[in-house]
Amino acid sequence: MLIDTYDRVATDLRVSLTDRCNLRCTYCMPEEGLQWLAKPDLLSDDEIVRLVRIAVTQLGIDEVRFTGGEPLLRPGLVSIVEQCAALTPRPKMSLTTNGIGLKRTAAALKAAGLDRVNVSLDTLRPDVFKTLTRRDRHHDVLAGLEAARDAGLTPVKVNTVLMPGLNGDEAPDLLAWAVEHGYELRFIEQMPLDAQHGWKRDGMITAGDILSSLRTRFTLTDEGDGERGSAPAERWLVDGGPHRVGVIASVTRPFCRACDRTRLTADGQVRTCLFAREETDLRGALRSGAADEEIARIWRLAMWGKKAGSGLDDPSFLQPDRPMSAIGG
Ligand code: GTP
Ligand code: 5AD
Ligand code: SF4
Repeated sequence: MLIDTYDRVATDLRVSLTDRCNLRCTYCMPEEGLQWLAKPDLLSDDEIVRLVRIAVTQLGIDEVRFTGGEPLLRPGLVSIVEQCAALTPRPKMSLTTNGIGLKRTAAALKAAGLDRVNVSLDTLRPDVFKTLTRRDRHHDVLAGLEAARDAGLTPVKVNTVLMPGLNGDEAPDLLAWAVEHGYELRFIEQMPLDAQHGWKRDGMITAGDILSSLRTRFTLTDEGDGERGSAPAERWLVDGGPHRVGVIASVTRPFCRACDRTRLTADGQVRTCLFAREETDLRGALRSGAADEEIARIWRLAMWGKKAGSGLDDPSFLQPDRPMSAIGG
């Protein structure tokens, strides 16, 4: 079991498969990209599967999410999913992706055992997409979303970050579109995890702003089924249901008390939190021949050091050294 000093138990593992990405979202990384991790520093496919196996068989993990950067850029993804699906107990598996390339891979991922996907899409306007991501790939994302839904990687969730002056006015249009297409839309408050360190609290669209904007066109009612548990998204029924919309208010309504996550970076470091300032090296242990039990012990010890919360409200808050793309959202 991965328990911390605040009695939280991590059952959800987020594995970053690469720090690279084929988009350049302005809230994430600069136009020129970043200094990518060197190939020998990345965990191999076998090393990833071994760590997932240890997490599932010895540490109580029952859900694995593959993230990036952009996880579809990892050549071994389908095989990694397939091998993780063969583990006993079999973990639930999901993927967080920008959707480019999903059209090509959705069916294979489903066949390999992936359960569902979350796709990032911030705008319905191709020109705004191009400004925001610095790439002209809007159409590919829409095609990827449809492919995921058709392949049964459901529920397909769409993650949207709103920014003033860019897509800040699109919340109601995005929700109408998501309802029409059968995607579950979640708005995410922008977090200070960009490589450029440009985040400002007063430049951010808050959960409150988003809900007010949605209520100009929709009736939102509390889901009221007590299902949230440890999920970051608070959800509302849209116009009485059955469709729902979510808001992930990491900044203004943090949910750290219910956090059930542990994270693994693409270079084999355990992170206890998105905002943690320390990491614990598992790759070194793996490569020096440590037994499964020893790796499990190091992982448990790392989680014991998990802080109470993100620290975003502390006056002394410091952004983590790694940006979101290298941590794995
Ligand atoms: P579901 O199981 O589908 O609800 O996934 P999810 O919302 O946990 O995962 P996803 O990868 O889609 O992440 C959506 C947003 O939630 C991203 O911006 C993540 O960075 C953010 N998020 C995920 N986990 C955490 C967390 O532990 N803390 C905070 N503050 N944000 C998180
Ligand atoms: N703040 C909030 N969300 C972010 N994402 C990437 N960077 C940030 C940020 N600074 C989102 C992506 C993706 C999810 C994993 O996190 O858009 O949907
Ligand atoms: Fe790529 Fe995701 Fe960062 Fe956008 S937010 S540049 S899709 S890693």
